[in-house]
Amino acid sequence: MRTYEVNSLRTVSKIRILKPDDIILPYFVVDGHGIRRPIKSMPGIYHVSIDNLINDIPDAKGIKYILLFGLAIKKDKKAQEAFRFDGVVQRAIKALKKHFPDLIVITDVCLCPYTSHGHCRILKENSKLDVDSDATLETLAKIALSHARAGADFVAPSAMMPGQVGTIRKALDKNGFKNTRILAYSAKYASNFYSPFREALDSAPRFGDRRSYQLDFRNSEEALTKIRQDISEGADIVMIKPALAYLDIIYKAKQEFDVPIAAYSVSGEYSMIKELSGGDKIKERNLAIEALTSIKRAGADLIISYFGKEVGKWLR
Ligand code: PBG
Repeated sequence: MRTYEVNSLRTVSKIRILKPDDIILPYFVVDGHGIRRPIKSMPGIYHVSIDNLINDIPDAKGIKYILLFGLAIKKDKKAQEAFRFDGVVQRAIKALKKHFPDLIVITDVCLCPYTSHGHCRILKENSKLDVDSDATLETLAKIALSHARAGADFVAPSAMMPGQVGTIRKALDKNGFKNTRILAYSAKYASNFYSPFREALDSAPRFGDRRSYQLDFRNSEEALTKIRQDISEGADIVMIKPALAYLDIIYKAKQEFDVPIAAYSVSGEYSMIKELSGGDKIKERNLAIEALTSIKRAGADLIISYFGKEVGKWLR
């Protein structure tokens, strides 16, 4: 019958097939040369120096988007290393754009890898609690600008600081970077799934936690409010983080908003799959593709995944 045909067609058209260009591949870059240092908490992921980052890219088949994190040499209360024009991230952006002009380079814009206390904000002098909002926003804008000057295509503010998207948009526009876009970490939950990453970047808070500025996982409305706010401040893409335990949020955001939705499949999600597959590459592939496809099915247009390099090979 006609209706049956229509329905079966609909079913087929709803199949979601993961593609390498759905993936954003993260890298942790360090100063130095010839470095490829395994990260204990994230088997298969490395701290790499810029030369090895460049050597790696041809191996990441079909990957179009790279997300850069930098490792600080010297942390301080003001995260000053984060906005040096010759910092490791800034140099990595230049090198990537020189060798692979078509690659889309996204940079994490946050303070936690660079602050001595490990928080994503600048704190008031002699305080463990009071956030200096003006200084934090100003620093985030300086970091974003330094990345834009180096050639970043997208900056990705991840401090969950109210006003960060608008402040960065203004700073970029004022300095002639109207074409640098913003991928906002809009809905970032206070999650237990981040622990392998914090070890990787040595960015765990030295005191307190991030619950005052990351979202409560018992709440879904707040995420939509944050996303709405970031879009109104000029976000080009909005992100939900983590992904697997937050598929409902991804789904709702996709229904409600017109901008592309990104989801961050975080370090704990990666480690779970690694652990479960116990070194069996076929199991690992099947688990990873199922998990990442579910994130896409929920509505994510882009997925940040540490399996990115493998996905490129698996799906070739
Ligand atoms: C914070 C930031 C976090 C991650 C990346 N940037 C979360 C946090 O430490 O609070 C986690 C990513 C992951 O777990 O893969 N700027």
